[in-house]
Amino acid sequence: MPAIANRVAALATTVFSEINDLALEHNAINLGQGRPDFDAPPDIVAAEVAALQDGKHNQYAPGTGTLSMRQAVANHAGRFYNLDIDPKSGVVVTAGATEGIFSSLLGLVNQGDEVILIEPYFDSYVPNLHWIGAKPVYVPLHPPTWTLDPDELRAAFSPRTRAIILNTPQNPTGRVFTYDELKLIADLCIEYDVICIADDVYEHLTFGETRHIPMATMPGMFERTVTVSSLGKSYSVTGWKLGWVYGPPALVTGVLRAHQFVTFAAHHPAQAAAAYALSQPGTYYEDFLTMYTVKRDLMMAALDGAGLKATAPEGTYFVMADFSDVFDGDDVAFARYLTREIGVACIPPGVFYCPEHGEIGRHFARFAFCKGDDTLRAAGERLAQLKR
Ligand SMILES: Cc1ncc(COP(=O)(O)O)c(C=O)c1O
Repeated sequence: MPAIANRVAALATTVFSEINDLALEHNAINLGQGRPDFDAPPDIVAAEVAALQDGKHNQYAPGTGTLSMRQAVANHAGRFYNLDIDPKSGVVVTAGATEGIFSSLLGLVNQGDEVILIEPYFDSYVPNLHWIGAKPVYVPLHPPTWTLDPDELRAAFSPRTRAIILNTPQNPTGRVFTYDELKLIADLCIEYDVICIADDVYEHLTFGETRHIPMATMPGMFERTVTVSSLGKSYSVTGWKLGWVYGPPALVTGVLRAHQFVTFAAHHPAQAAAAYALSQPGTYYEDFLTMYTVKRDLMMAALDGAGLKATAPEGTYFVMADFSDVFDGDDVAFARYLTREIGVACIPPGVFYCPEHGEIGRHFARFAFCKGDDTLRAAGERLAQLKR
């Protein structure tokens, strides 16, 4: 009998699907998946509609992406981070950040290399590493502050280390790494000649005085960093799956060589809209943060009213809440209970850890607050039933 390949055989259907199905069955408010339940800005949608209808964007885009989008990515990196990116040889447009990360790993990491992951991590990283035959080396963030232990970080680096995947602002903890934290990582990357694959998809989602510092801007890091980002989070168009990778041409060449045989080219009309979106005025980002600050505050009030302990996230639209005061089981049992009995779905973060470190996330649940304000208020009312 034909069977599925070994490289996917161990990948069970994720707990995300189970929780989504349970949420539907029990009519739960779904704060599980990081998927906004409100629409994208109408002018950004209109830019895509115009591109669909102008007769110029319905066939393959250039493999690297349209020059106007690559120019917009370079301008955006210059405007926000003072980076000098070459739009012709330093940018590749990808099918979302997910493809950007996979193509970066394919193009920059060899079989047998070690790649450092900070836990809890975004779930596509580990299967990607297994497919390319690289070995993940895990360094956990420690709750409740979600900080690195410098000794554990240093111990993860060795002559076998080829790359580190760094996600800041960080899903699911909501941490935004400080200059000092980034400097620690950067110094080790330089000492061990390691590449950084910077997953910056939440680059515009930081609260209050917190600012996102791209690893590519740290001293000595530009030449060894590829930065991956996408339209999904910053412009509320997760369904478009349009992303990019930028960095020094010497590294971006590797990403491009992989990308040309992974997808060849990304969705063409959305690239016209991306050029428009990436050129939004500063007021767009101010309004975006004002909107998300209200949502974050509603989420924090809901958790507080439920007796769930959480530190307000510095960035992203996720928060990790400690349920140990109100529930005795593990994270999966809590997520099932919350969805079935309380009517609010969340994600058990055990899936973002290697088995050895799963215990760290055992008493936490991840909530996504990229939802309508009324939805968050309604979730708060339901969650209040939890309080003992
Ligand atoms: C940390 C992180 N990286 C990458 C992605 C994937 O981004 P995209 O939808 O652009 O592929 C996500 C989406 O949730 C994410 O949270």
